[in-house]
Amino acid sequence: MTPTPIPLKGSPPMKVRFADTAPDRSPIAYPVAKGGLAGAAIGGLDAASAALVRASANGVRFEGEAGTIAEAFVAEGNGTRRVILVGTGGGAPQEWERAGGAVAARLLISGETQVAFDLTGSGADAHAAALVAAGARQRAWRHDVYRTRLTDKQKPTLEEVVIVGAPAGTDKAWEHQDALTTGMAFTRTLVSDPPNILFPEEFVARCRDLEKLGVKLTVLDEAAMRKEGMGSLLGVSQGSVREAQLLVMHWNGTGTAGDPPLALVGKGVTFDTGGISIKPAAGMEDMKWDMGGAGAIAGAIRALALRKAKVNVVGVCGLVENMPDGAAQRPGDIVTSMSGQTIEVINTDAEGRLVLCDAITWVQKHFRPKTIVDLATLTGAMIIALGNEHGGIFANDDALAEQLTAAGKAVGDPLWRFPLSDAYNKLIDSPIADMKNVGPRGAGSITAAQFIQRFVDEGVKWAHLDIAGMVWADKPGATWDKGATGYGVRLLDRFVKDNFEA
Ligand code: BES
Ligand code: MN
Ligand code: ZN
Repeated sequence: MTPTPIPLKGSPPMKVRFADTAPDRSPIAYPVAKGGLAGAAIGGLDAASAALVRASANGVRFEGEAGTIAEAFVAEGNGTRRVILVGTGGGAPQEWERAGGAVAARLLISGETQVAFDLTGSGADAHAAALVAAGARQRAWRHDVYRTRLTDKQKPTLEEVVIVGAPAGTDKAWEHQDALTTGMAFTRTLVSDPPNILFPEEFVARCRDLEKLGVKLTVLDEAAMRKEGMGSLLGVSQGSVREAQLLVMHWNGTGTAGDPPLALVGKGVTFDTGGISIKPAAGMEDMKWDMGGAGAIAGAIRALALRKAKVNVVGVCGLVENMPDGAAQRPGDIVTSMSGQTIEVINTDAEGRLVLCDAITWVQKHFRPKTIVDLATLTGAMIIALGNEHGGIFANDDALAEQLTAAGKAVGDPLWRFPLSDAYNKLIDSPIADMKNVGPRGAGSITAAQFIQRFVDEGVKWAHLDIAGMVWADKPGATWDKGATGYGVRLLDRFVKDNFEA
């Protein structure tokens, strides 16, 4: 069954431009380091205007902490100009990004269409300058396509950021951030779209244009997956009228043939009702973003292809819908995975691991990667452990864990490592099959990771990122509004850049 999706377009990405001077009359934002208000050069403002701006800043106890803002209107000619001071804290890269985000948030529906960022004499290097623009674009992203009754005052007005006084090299740094923010916006749209619109085949359709960027797509439908013996993934899909899909996105930017050293594998459950082990009604709508791992991988592949990253990488998304139905799998069913290992399905709501295990086996057979990183909104227990501040990372290799954690820290997608061990692994032994799909109540995120590890081939470096608490935000953050965050895209991009692009 393939209902026609509503043809909708998202809001256009915010334009970014570099210039020598600010546009007439547009608001101007000046960065201020923490504690740097007194000495801050406030552009070409005359003494009276500068004093007014400083007084306004003191009036709101502005001290230059990253992402804080003070605002004033100063006289200019026979009109006024909006002047914004924005804190850049200690000047770390993420603080510049935060500053960009804060200004965009302030002006997004203000009526202003442009904002200039005056970085002259601010000390921002090219990376920081590009991050100001990237932060603004990320924070300005919205998904208004289903809101047909927005009043003029509710509609976003801000269209363009003009970076003034950017240092040499900013163009190049922006090329990277342009690709990255485009990838993130793609991920956010996939994550935000409702489950009646975004089901497995539609997810694939949204990725089709990656081919124009040079990404090789391979799509397996259910018949093809049955031939491969992917009984675990197919068992999850059994209760859904939507056809499951395995989406394979191969980006080879190295110009040399051969197997990609890196595989990215994503959980793409486009809706998780829990199946026959059905979830409670309250909050179930959140399970539209149970494809956030797959969404992050699709966004990362888009970013890598857009910036022509010199890496050979394959992204694999296991796309299914988990529904209760007369044909749905039952608790107690035993399925045979592509690896040949049998699984007793104790709880049909522990479906993510059932999807990932076959996707991992498939990519190992067809691409022989040396490293696999999987991303999944796998367990509610991860949110109990880490809330919405870190993703959890599990790995069979310390160096890989360190590389991913460092990448996440550098870009603002933080990770925290959890243990794996035989003692946890034993907890998912089954008396009737090779394993069961859930362990006891305790250590739920770890036993989920142990389950996946049982499918990783000898000698393959593997990390599992449980990002259940990170893909969706109930309140606005520095670079996102409420809703989809795009978590994981920046992390994967940085991980690739630092470890796979020579
Ligand atoms: N998609 C959920 C995990 C989840 C829950 C993500 C809440 C984000 C927010 C996953 O498929 C699931 O249902 N996991 C179960 C596992 C349990 C049955 C062992 C869970 O966490 O309750
Ligand atoms: Mn579930
Ligand atoms: Zn799920």
